[in-house]
Amino acid sequence: MAYTAKDYSNLIGIEGFSETLLKNHFTLYQGYVTNINKLMDSLASMLKEGKVGTPEYSELKRRMGFEFNGMRLHEYYFDNLGGKVVLDKSGKLARKLAEDFGSYEDWERDFKGTGAMRGIGWAILYQDNTTGKVINLWINEHETGHLAGCIPILVMDVFEHAFITDYGLKRADYIEAFFKNINWNVVESRLK
Ligand SMILES: [Fe+2]
Repeated sequence: MAYTAKDYSNLIGIEGFSETLLKNHFTLYQGYVTNINKLMDSLASMLKEGKVGTPEYSELKRRMGFEFNGMRLHEYYFDNLGGKVVLDKSGKLARKLAEDFGSYEDWERDFKGTGAMRGIGWAILYQDNTTGKVINLWINEHETGHLAGCIPILVMDVFEHAFITDYGLKRADYIEAFFKNINWNVVESRLK
């Protein structure tokens, strides 16, 4: 079954994100959906053609994490944007962040600091399914650094394409705009 790109045009008009930036970002996302479908089709054909073990098969297998996560992380990201309300500091998520980081403010400082790191990738708040602990993590590109058995709770794109159109090199300003638009209801619903 092929993956289908989701429609995020509802996000157009959110404060701090221009229509040009968002539309380009949607196009990039759609490219990952196209590419993971192509890649999986190619691997299925190669399996039938007896090409398992060839360098071509191996390289496509290696590529799968990049294309798949390029698709899925954008879905987490766009899904956790478009919020209109601030986080309820007495709610389940805020209490969990305070519990594991000492305070909500410490969590926010750590998450923003993770997103401001040099390089291209993602800042992700994960929850460890085994212990329930929440962890902020840097992902290099789309696939390097994920933690097995952890669920993404809040996902922030910090590839330059996510902000350079509107903010130039001012990544910190983009991170502030991102925080103003977090859909905390969606984020909280991901927490176990
Ligand atoms: Fe992106």
